[in-house]
Amino acid sequence: AKYTVVDQDTCIACGACGATAPEIFDYNDEGIAFAILDNNTGITEVPDELKEDLEDALDGCPTDSIKVAAKPFTCKSVQAG
Ligand code: F3S
Repeated sequence: AKYTVVDQDTCIACGACGATAPEIFDYNDEGIAFAILDNNTGITEVPDELKEDLEDALDGCPTDSIKVAAKPFTCKSVQAG
């Protein structure tokens, strides 16, 4: 399983991710990316057919703002909170 979120603090709105994986990433009014699947909460599993796009977007982000994990990101927020 793969889950993804964009770290919006480091995203520089370069626009590569949405071009590479338009079904996974879109941009807010400022051009900052977010994951469409779950409104950038990282709790929805990326469908198998989009995993390749996800890998490509991950490789293409110049600021490493795309985070990918095998578990939902909720677990992390709970720990951090
Ligand atoms: Fe931002 Fe990286 Fe996408 S800088 S717009 S998350 S490719």
